[in-house]
Amino acid sequence: MFNASADQHTLGFLGRALSLELSAVQQYRTQARLVAVWGLNDVAEKLQHEAEEELGHVDRIIARMIALAVAPNASQLRPVGLGRNLTELLQQNQWLEQQLIQLYTVATEHCHLVGDYDNHLFFSKLLQEEQGHAQQLMLWMQQLGQTQTKTRTTTKVQRQSRATF
Ligand SMILES: [Fe+2]
Repeated sequence: MFNASADQHTLGFLGRALSLELSAVQQYRTQARLVAVWGLNDVAEKLQHEAEEELGHVDRIIARMIALAVAPNASQLRPVGLGRNLTELLQQNQWLEQQLIQLYTVATEHCHLVGDYDNHLFFSKLLQEEQGHAQQLMLWMQQLGQTQTKTRTTTKVQRQSRATF
């Protein structure tokens, strides 16, 4: 299935978006399994939920491609970004979200330039959602940083008070 009349740049953006969103699903689901092994069940649930949101994006992109009469052909899955702790995992996710935001920004601008209203709307909605997602991720990392600082301070104070007695 190949639509020669469709804007080839737009089809290219859709193909790249599909690869990136599928990469996000693979990454978040893998991380969810990994943190469950670490005993972080709440985090695992949160990552599973994120994977489901990304799967929703995959579904919308496929539906868009079908509407444009092109067959989805994601062929560039990124290797899963992992790490030694939750902060490192979230850094990997931040990087992936930035890739998505960059892609949707360029795609939105392109559709605006060529006067493609439908696809402009389609990409700008995805852009908005990914921006919201990146913001939540940043908040999560900040909270995590504060918790770690608090834990380190508490441990230091405990050590000092133990040393006093
Ligand atoms: Fe997404």
